[in-house]
Amino acid sequence: MQKIPSKKYRPFPPVALPDRQWPDRVLTRAPIWCSVDLRDGNQALAVPMNVSQKLELFQALVHIGFKEIEVGFPSASNTEFTFNRRLIEENRAPANVWLQVLVQAREDLIERTVESLTGAKKAIIHLYNSTSPAQRRVVFGMSRKEIIAVAVRGATWIKERLPRLKGTEVMLQYSPESFSGTEVEFAKEISEAVMDVWQPTPKRKMILNLPDTVEVAMPNVYADQIEWVCRNIRNRDSLVVSVHTHNDRNTGVAATELGLLAGAERVEGTLFGNGERTGNLDIVTVALNLYQHGIDPKLDFTDLNSIIEVYERCTGMTVPPRQPYAGELVFTAFSGSHQDAIRKGLNEWKDNRQKHWDVPYLTIDPTDIGREYREVIRVNSQSGKGGVAYLLESQFGIELPKEMQREFGPIANDEVDKLGREVTAAELKQMFWREYVERVMPWQLKKFETESKNGIVRCRAKLLRDGKTVEISGEGNGPLAALVHGFGKIGVPRFEITAYSEHALSSGEEAAAIAYIQIKHANGQTRWGAGVDTNIELASVRAVVSALNRS
Ligand code: KIV
Ligand code: ZN
Repeated sequence: MQKIPSKKYRPFPPVALPDRQWPDRVLTRAPIWCSVDLRDGNQALAVPMNVSQKLELFQALVHIGFKEIEVGFPSASNTEFTFNRRLIEENRAPANVWLQVLVQAREDLIERTVESLTGAKKAIIHLYNSTSPAQRRVVFGMSRKEIIAVAVRGATWIKERLPRLKGTEVMLQYSPESFSGTEVEFAKEISEAVMDVWQPTPKRKMILNLPDTVEVAMPNVYADQIEWVCRNIRNRDSLVVSVHTHNDRNTGVAATELGLLAGAERVEGTLFGNGERTGNLDIVTVALNLYQHGIDPKLDFTDLNSIIEVYERCTGMTVPPRQPYAGELVFTAFSGSHQDAIRKGLNEWKDNRQKHWDVPYLTIDPTDIGREYREVIRVNSQSGKGGVAYLLESQFGIELPKEMQREFGPIANDEVDKLGREVTAAELKQMFWREYVERVMPWQLKKFETESKNGIVRCRAKLLRDGKTVEISGEGNGPLAALVHGFGKIGVPRFEITAYSEHALSSGEEAAAIAYIQIKHANGQTRWGAGVDTNIELASVRAVVSALNRS
């Protein structure tokens, strides 16, 4: 990298628009969507789609609800031409779907493009030429005037051929390619020159697509450019202003959203952002961002998983795991505290305690788009007692009392810290078992019997103490009180039971009960213990022994 970047690179000049309006606006409805998956997306694939793959993806796009679909560049290859012909001849496009075709300002290409549209019900002919200073200088070696002449010629060749498309409803679209790198005044001038040829009216509008062909500035600059054009171009009401952003600076979505605030009413993009370099705008994200704000996006992603499946199969691309809404991991919580918060939020939602979705960490309800909230079941040293407890409960039905969580949480975290890695739920349970359930030193319970008379319970227990047999007996108002009494009789320092809970263990080979007991010693020290047995009385006795062993 350069030590002094300014020697090689320069800042992007801002647009002079001191009274810009877009920052105070909010989006209230869906734009017109145009999918460019089959053209811009397809041209960027290592192996472009074949006709049958394009047909399948086209079908999926129609199913999602796109009413404008750029189906290709029919003059560029036979595959593209054939695909367009099959759509038309096999009547694959519903009557309300516009087939959009892209073409450069060359007469032979325009001729072939128009030919490819014969018999279409609705067609958008999309003409483009590049307008930025770098393109004018490096690629075309043309002056501004000459670049305008290219656009005007192209527009004229298209107009001359329109009578050939009888029976087809045609809409015209012009893109000053590399618009965001073009001086706004020049973009206006060239667009108006095309408008002069096509003569759009408020009733018969043309689409003016203003592409962020290469993202070269922050999205607010693009919004300024869009607002500037919307406010300064002649006959704005005869135009459908469209945005088409790429993602070079990873702000394609932001640029589109701000472009909409700035006055655009149409959006071009692709599913999951497939496209040249860092990709086109991800339409799924923009649509679901609107949905998140309660706006009907007019695109249906109810079964997003199937759309991902078709997309990946047809394009050979994969949706990255952190792709907004669609990625494998975006509705997965790893952290225990996140899981805890989500669980509470979901419960609140299920109990109708909130009118609008407000679940921590989940921007939308994953089930709305056929996804599922998932928890990754493991803890790390930062997981916290809530996460540890949640994991034990959700995976094994072990419902630690709150106070016991406070004791076991730090113990588990310390162990995980020592291991220096995350642990699975099974490992966490093993830790709990080792710490509480399996402790046999110094005390190990061998036998426990009770008899009850006149409300007095008498117990006889056989235990090992450091491996040596000890027999105790005691009495009290219940088996545990009798046990505590028995320990006292053989000189074990006095303790009392201060908390007790139990529940059945859900399933598995330990179809048993678990008891949790807290004891308090004379010096005020408290300890928890846990015992598991098929007999609930024995489980609680074991829990007392466990607590003693931990003292
Ligand atoms: O990115 C771009 O500028 C394009 C145009 C052809 C609209 O894809
Ligand atoms: Zn593009």
